[in-house]
Amino acid sequence: METQQRTIVVTGASRGIGAAIVMELVRRGFVVGCLSRGGTGPEEGADALSPSAIIPVACDVRREEDVKMALSHIYAKTGGIHGIVNNAGIHRDAPSAKLSIADYEQVMNTNATAVMTACREVYPFLLKAGGGTIVNMGSFFDKIGVKRNLAYCASKAAVGAMTRCLAVEWASKSIRVLNVAPGYIETDLNREAFKGPLREFLSKRIPGGQHGGVGDVAKLVASIFSENIAFLSGETIYIDGAQGVAH
Ligand SMILES: NC(=O)c1ccc[n+]([C@@H]2O[C@H](COP(=O)([O-])OP(=O)(O)OC[C@H]3O[C@@H](n4cnc5c(N)ncnc54)[C@H](OP(=O)(O)O)[C@@H]3O)[C@@H](O)[C@H]2O)c1
Repeated sequence: METQQRTIVVTGASRGIGAAIVMELVRRGFVVGCLSRGGTGPEEGADALSPSAIIPVACDVRREEDVKMALSHIYAKTGGIHGIVNNAGIHRDAPSAKLSIADYEQVMNTNATAVMTACREVYPFLLKAGGGTIVNMGSFFDKIGVKRNLAYCASKAAVGAMTRCLAVEWASKSIRVLNVAPGYIETDLNREAFKGPLREFLSKRIPGGQHGGVGDVAKLVASIFSENIAFLSGETIYIDGAQGVAH
């Protein structure tokens, strides 16, 4: 099977979308390096995974040294890194008129700067492997205006821009770079908001009336690795139940 012994690194692998991506990649025969600050693999469902298929590593993606050490550790264990999913992310909301530099930088450092660092640090490993695939986790907030979400929207727009630049710059090295941009997916990131009027609001705003599940995003991301379509690169792929294009 083509996917056997291919190793993919997933950041933010302990919960939510990242954990679902890990499980879907393992199901398809990949070995997965699982990065999170806590250093665990998926917190739920991991007992269904083959222990040899997951390599949990503690790594704060905002720290360059952590990222370097995590990738070296995974390479030492597997002998090759063939791709990365830059999924770790945070969400903070605040009225823009009161947004502090500290809060703005916290979001930008985790959601955007850390993506640049991880792409840069994984590059030599992908060269050694003869090429590879990078999937960055964006958001459909990259193309719409959202009250109280200036930092988050800016960070995800930056991810789309980085994806395009790297796809162009590294295409000659057989490295593809894609941006997967979900709409609303219920996870810890937005659990509190879902307890309020958000669920009711979304039932009217999303054409199908339902928000997405982590499995929807996981299947899309895993298929990018398992299908390995050489000509598909540089794009932002929205997965939002058509909310972003609805009138
Ligand atoms: N949920 C949505 O509706 C939605 C929509 C569009 C885009 N997204 C994006 O999808 C990605 C995953 O979101 P989610 O909803 O699955 O969030 P989540 O449930 O809150 O999970 C976030 C993950 O990121 C990890 N993480 C956070 N900061 C980190 C850091 N500094 N270093 C390493 N790992 C870190 C967390 O693990 P630790 O706490 O253990 O470090 C956790 O595994 C994010 O980039 C988010 O912006 C989500």
